[in-house]
Amino acid sequence: MDKYDILIKKARDILRTKPFDGVHDLSHHVSVYKTALQIAENINFEFDKKTLELAVMWHDVTAPGNEKNEVATAELIKDEMVALDFSDKDINEVYNAIAHHGYNQQPRNMIGKMLWDADKLDFLSINRWKNGLKMETDGKATFKAAKEMFEKVLKMIPTIPEKLHFEISQQIFDERLKELKASPVAKKIAEHYGCELRNI
Ligand SMILES: [Fe+2]
Repeated sequence: MDKYDILIKKARDILRTKPFDGVHDLSHHVSVYKTALQIAENINFEFDKKTLELAVMWHDVTAPGNEKNEVATAELIKDEMVALDFSDKDINEVYNAIAHHGYNQQPRNMIGKMLWDADKLDFLSINRWKNGLKMETDGKATFKAAKEMFEKVLKMIPTIPEKLHFEISQQIFDERLKELKASPVAKKIAEHYGCELRNI
């Protein structure tokens, strides 16, 4: 196991055993990584796959939601990387990608842009919607809290395209939105929270 694998495994272990919440669990990180790879395959850019995986698998390990938390997560992985003697270049890549992945932030490097786009595209993933509902049915969120979270996501979705960084991200957005609008499961979840899919 090389040092990348050690830290990727560490993130997976944390996300499996104590994720921040039901929508920032291992499945969210795996899904974001898959999308990030899909983006990477469609752009003309040489990058290190392991560095991307490391940044993606750690991006919401502690707590998502605001700039302070993002920096805290970036600091955490930075310390882990320093301890394993990663190069300054790799440490900076991962640190900057995570520290600036918030919705109102501007990513500062290519890995950060791929993470940003893939992360926001996950708002259109049906699995994410199911996990949001599951938080309520598992008693980890009240109906009110889950409804507010859902409404926030619905409101945010139409604002995503103009912020995406790659043409392929736009294409993925269009495909996912189409799938979401045609999905009976998505329709049911929306109805559960008193929302309509045609508004997105
Ligand atoms: Fe995320």
